[in-house]
Amino acid sequence: MVVSPVSPILCFFSIYIPSFASRIAPHTNLSLSLVLVLSPLYTSLPFMGAIDVAAIAKTEGESMVKREEERMGEAEYMKGVRHLCDTGVTKVPNRYILPAPDRPHIVRCGDSTNSHNLKLPIIDLSLLHTPKRAMALEDLSMACKEYGFFQVVNHGIPSEVIEDMIDVSKRFFGMPYDEREKYMSSDLRSPVRYGTSFNQIKDRVFCWRDFLKLSCQPLESVLPFWPSSPADMREKTSAYANGMKSLFKELMSAILESLGVSMNALSEFDDGSHLMVVNCFPPCPEPNLTLGMPPHSDYGFLTLLLQDQVAGLQVQYKDEWVTIDPVPGAFVVNIGDHLEIFSNGIYKSILHRVLVNSLQNRISIASLHSMPVEKVISPAAELVSESSPKRYMDTDFTTFLKYISSTEFKKKNFLESRKLTRTMDQTTEGQLC
Ligand code: OGA
Ligand code: NI
Repeated sequence: MVVSPVSPILCFFSIYIPSFASRIAPHTNLSLSLVLVLSPLYTSLPFMGAIDVAAIAKTEGESMVKREEERMGEAEYMKGVRHLCDTGVTKVPNRYILPAPDRPHIVRCGDSTNSHNLKLPIIDLSLLHTPKRAMALEDLSMACKEYGFFQVVNHGIPSEVIEDMIDVSKRFFGMPYDEREKYMSSDLRSPVRYGTSFNQIKDRVFCWRDFLKLSCQPLESVLPFWPSSPADMREKTSAYANGMKSLFKELMSAILESLGVSMNALSEFDDGSHLMVVNCFPPCPEPNLTLGMPPHSDYGFLTLLLQDQVAGLQVQYKDEWVTIDPVPGAFVVNIGDHLEIFSNGIYKSILHRVLVNSLQNRISIASLHSMPVEKVISPAAELVSESSPKRYMDTDFTTFLKYISSTEFKKKNFLESRKLTRTMDQTTEGQLC
């Protein structure tokens, strides 16, 4: 700009005066005259300075137009990605473009020859009911320690229940926006919440995802709040939710046994929290610039994920992002923050994220399970000893909600914030590691 002794003054006015002037007189020339009239200082500016003022007034006019576009865009973005795609976007709008270091490096996603694809351990649940139970528990324990993720097969959920859930989810997101909008809510405790991105109130960069979150506990009480259309939504989704609840309990029983922890904890899950998140990731014109979900960990004990046959889930493994190839009929299971805390850090809650692609819509259904929301989660007594001290603070759901409402959700910060750090001779609570 102006390289002269008066430049700080010009800078001051370039911010304040043109915007004031252009508000009273949006026409550039008039606002320029007002700048000059309002500022006797300008009369002493060199000619270069006067040219700068004109440029500033012009830029101001342009940026007002841009802001107006952004304001209009903002309201549109709040309606979700599905809606955005219906308007026929051919480029990813700025609001969804991640800073360069956070962008995914897509290397032939979904191609099984890709070295960035990972075969997760596959746990055959039918083995738990045979003499091979001990071996299956050993495999499960290894998967929870090494990956924090595994897939389950022979889980006993009828394929019809699974197919119906995917089908009704597709039909829900296929309804006109006006139908879906009825379920929009910013109240984190609402039993039904339709929304977009990760946290659309706080996210500076939006994610390429729309979601429907359904509380499932207690099912009879929340069911009347669930979407009434498609007409079979409640029927299909509640059958699926019941299946997820019993599968979760079966898995938790095996996990407690693998940790050597008393089965008493199992009854805590009878009335435990259960949230289902139906995710929709529409095709994206520039999938290298954005993500369907940013890196995050899940808050509960276990998440049971059903994905249609479109790849997209990536987990962090040995400091790299690796894609999980969908296995037909299998569920992807991952350890949540609560189980990492409960296991005193033996089992790991791992960061994961979702890639989008330019060709196919992707649907996934995540079932997140934990103890009742009012229950305080702490490391299991059997896993705490002098040689293996308590590594996490006690935590509850209210603390978590407060945390996500107050801070922009960043990676694993919640879990990190619950870690205890040990100094020479004392334990310090609340320190971030
Ligand atoms: C989630 C999640 C992964 C996926 O909903 O928490 O991580 O592949 N989903 O949709
Ligand atoms: Ni997740």
